Amino acid sequence: EVRITEITTRECLTKLAKRKPNLVFSGVKYFEFNGDQIWLNDFLELHNIPYIGSNHAALDREHNKGLAKSLVKKAGIVTADYVVVKTSGVSAHNHLRMAYPVFVKPVIGGDSIGIDELSLVFNREQLDVKIKQIFNVLNCDALVERYLMGREFSVGILEDEQSRVLTAMPIEITAPKNNLGHRLLDFDVKRLDREKVTKVKNKTLHKKLSDLGKSAFAALGGRSFGRIDIKLCAKGLPHFVEANLMPGLSKGYFYRSCVINLGMTYDDMILLLCSNRINSSGEGKKTA
Ligand SMILES: Nc1ncnc2c1ncn2[C@@H]1O[C@H](COP(=O)(O)OP(=O)(O)O)[C@@H](O)[C@H]1O
Ligand SMILES: [Mg+2]
Repeated sequence: EVRITEITTRECLTKLAKRKPNLVFSGVKYFEFNGDQIWLNDFLELHNIPYIGSNHAALDREHNKGLAKSLVKKAGIVTADYVVVKTSGVSAHNHLRMAYPVFVKPVIGGDSIGIDELSLVFNREQLDVKIKQIFNVLNCDALVERYLMGREFSVGILEDEQSRVLTAMPIEITAPKNNLGHRLLDFDVKRLDREKVTKVKNKTLHKKLSDLGKSAFAALGGRSFGRIDIKLCAKGLPHFVEANLMPGLSKGYFYRSCVINLGMTYDDMILLLCSNRINSSGEGKKTA
């Protein structure tokens, strides 16, 4: 039995808990009721109700891209040099310990929000402009990274929750060249679906991307499924860019990584995410 529950108030959550479903399938991280934040996964754990995906602690580790980078770096994974610039203070140029060009984006966020042609920065003036835009428009700290000029990939990860074995599903994502000849997966490219998604045919590269994806997923304490973004530097070495432990489950990059690597249909993918958790938590039969 599968039911759709719309949660608009705290009472809806309480009712859900009373119903005690065997599994909750949701892409919501938290609710805000009268200014109080309630993390769905914390709430469900408190009521011993299984849910798909990673727990609150792991989602916190990936949410802040600076924190995620420091954790994967500690685990020995390669990621571009970076600095997080806080809202106040003198020109960020004075904190830079890396050469231009650099890449500037909000330290928190997704869907390439805040990422545009101005993210690729060649000098102090451009740096100040882009950081100011991120502060003023998004009210967010800025992550300034070494620019990775090579090809771009994303690695879907599936964990078999009984054996804990990880399967990596790399795809290549190619954005069109912008006016300056750079390929950025920026907000407009994603919004207008202008990027191409293809299979990674080269076996050595496939293995390198898979290894990096699996290590990053493990370093961040991901569970069940996720997606790791990777870019090559000028020398062709894969670098961790960011992790998505709650990747979109419509027909986006995660789904495409499943289709391209494992030949799954959309229904196969959704059912696998359900059965994986139900089997691992010893529940069964009835689903809601
Ligand atoms: N250090 C970098 N060098 C070059 N391009 C980058 C860098 N960081 C991000 N990008 C580009 O910006 C895109 C979005 O960045 P990402 O951190 O994945 O944000 P989002 O969470 O919005 O997907 C990436 O897919 C990539 O094309
Ligand atoms: Mg991304």
